[in-house]
Amino acid sequence: MISDEVVERVRAATDIVQVIGESVPLRRAGGDFRGPCPFHQGTKPNFAVSPRRGTYHCFVCHESGDAFTYVRKRLGMDWPAAVKYLGERAGIEVVDTPARLQPPDPNTPHWEVLGAAAEWFQRQLQDEAMGRDARGYLAGRALDAEACAKFGIGFAPRDGALLRRYLNSLGFGDDRQRDAGLLLQREGEEGLRPRFRGRIMFPIHDELGHPVGFGGRAMGDEEPKYLNSAESPVFQKRRLLYGLHHARGAMRRQQRAIVVEGYLDVIRLVLAGVEEVVAPLGTALTEDQAALLLRYAPEVFLLLDADEAGQAATFKSGKELLRHRAAVRVVTLPDGEDPDSFVRAHGRPAIDQALSAAMDLFDRQLQLVERRGWFADLRLRRRAIDRLLPTIRATRDPLTRDMYLARLATVTGLDKATLLAEADEPDAGSTLRRTPPAEDDAPPPLESPAAEPPPSAAPAGPRPPWRGKGRRGEGPQWLVTSVPPRPAQDEPVERLLVRAMLLDRSVAEWVAERHPPQDFRHGGYAQVYAALLAAAPDEDLAQVAERLDGVALQALRAVSEGPMPTDPAAADLTLLIRRLDVRALEARIDAIREAMRDADPSAQATLMRERLALEADLRHLAPVRTPRRRPSR
Ligand code: UTP
Ligand code: MN
Repeated sequence: MISDEVVERVRAATDIVQVIGESVPLRRAGGDFRGPCPFHQGTKPNFAVSPRRGTYHCFVCHESGDAFTYVRKRLGMDWPAAVKYLGERAGIEVVDTPARLQPPDPNTPHWEVLGAAAEWFQRQLQDEAMGRDARGYLAGRALDAEACAKFGIGFAPRDGALLRRYLNSLGFGDDRQRDAGLLLQREGEEGLRPRFRGRIMFPIHDELGHPVGFGGRAMGDEEPKYLNSAESPVFQKRRLLYGLHHARGAMRRQQRAIVVEGYLDVIRLVLAGVEEVVAPLGTALTEDQAALLLRYAPEVFLLLDADEAGQAATFKSGKELLRHRAAVRVVTLPDGEDPDSFVRAHGRPAIDQALSAAMDLFDRQLQLVERRGWFADLRLRRRAIDRLLPTIRATRDPLTRDMYLARLATVTGLDKATLLAEADEPDAGSTLRRTPPAEDDAPPPLESPAAEPPPSAAPAGPRPPWRGKGRRGEGPQWLVTSVPPRPAQDEPVERLLVRAMLLDRSVAEWVAERHPPQDFRHGGYAQVYAALLAAAPDEDLAQVAERLDGVALQALRAVSEGPMPTDPAAADLTLLIRRLDVRALEARIDAIREAMRDADPSAQATLMRERLALEADLRHLAPVRTPRRRPSR
């Protein structure tokens, strides 16, 4: 271990411009230095090195870090080697003291008590009488004594007092057991109780192999199936990967990591001789976990359960990995299988075969969308693209991103430039979304979206003559926000607008200046909107509701009972209206594209011109300004 103090001395003595300048031609540009980015093999001077901050950053691929990061990433050194290398250059002696000479790590007290508990759980499993049922359960899952020993699997007896007493006898007091998550305090309850009772215990280690917690599996149908240690300074689920301390050597050697869902999946694969395997602890991969994996391997295989949850986790995890510039592959198992059952049933050759048949994440996503027939139908195609764009947006590697765009252009028949424009919208899957996402909790649209382009489609077009006569009042003050935020990703624009109208009815009039109720695609929201506009100033909501039909009432309920947006941007009306502008434009473009199919050549040319103009409008759609003229009193 190298002490922090030495690291900081090396950092301070290192000239990052000199270190990077040895491999990258750097030129001074103001206070910084610029050159071509070595990470994405750039040719333009987009790579900036700041001697003042001691950091580098690429404005194209967003790779960034300090001198240590640079040496590790470009010269492939591990941490101690990087510190020694830079220390040598700066004339500082870097001593890598054995851990025992270091001051104790503040986490040592947790590791000690958890290690003692892990060892005790293992012994209970081996105990003739105590562990009989647990051994039977494990045998039923094809885990013998040798396998259990290899993974430190143990058993927590029903009688939780036993462990507590044992740990007490070793000098680990109750407080320490509680802090390590072995005892817990229930609210409104005197005293402490054991957290794990009657469960098969899978010890969980951090990257360096310190025991940090447990996953305890029920032996029957009790809930939860797995009980994990509580979050603590040493057990932070989002930063841990089950099996990493075993897998990391293999991950380096094989240059790939395999991610599975469960503890037993890891164990089964390792037993079958596939060692570069880890599992997150019951969630999709987090940012920290993705970063952790990429330290060891540039390519990640997602081998998740073949069910809905597994598929959702695949794409969520995949995006996180693409953000970290991993090459991401998806392994598909037969329906209903997980890696544990698959390997048990078919053995090692089958898993090797499945791994070699792995598809690139984006290709897999395209395949799923294609199979659902989403590319065949015009409206669904729009939705398909909305599903696929986030993956492209998440992809930070410029080459991969370009290939994905090219693939998408091919399968959709759209031009790459148009797709690129959408993909480049910063974090704006929502801006162009026309159909509510499937997981949307709004009532389903009962009317199909307008096939005809709405009259107020073009942003610069004439204002609709439609006027309401709703309650008069001041324009809503709260919509003038200074931040340029975007509406929350999945909040459907119509629902948010109706909500705003309910809070302040003059909003309805204000929206109507640009988008009358017939522009709304959801029949229910359109009706509520129209009813609010038509309502007399003194009518209350109950009276308005009397004129609504079932669909509209349901929509009204969804709005008033739905969760309030936590994102302040969701309350920004100008942005919501801009989204209506965008989708109206898109509807027109779609309609033109459709019309072009059957048009004769001269009509096609006219349509194409119109389409190009609309696409240009779409790209340049400026934020709408708050209308100068508010509805007159
Ligand atoms: P699975 O339900 O797929 O578990 O959850 P599994 O590993 O296949 O379990 P077996 O084969 O039925 O024993 C995958 C992972 O999600 C977490 C655990 O980390 C588990 O390994 N999980 C699952 C929990 O944390 N709690 C639960 O109640 C269920
Ligand atoms: Mn599973």
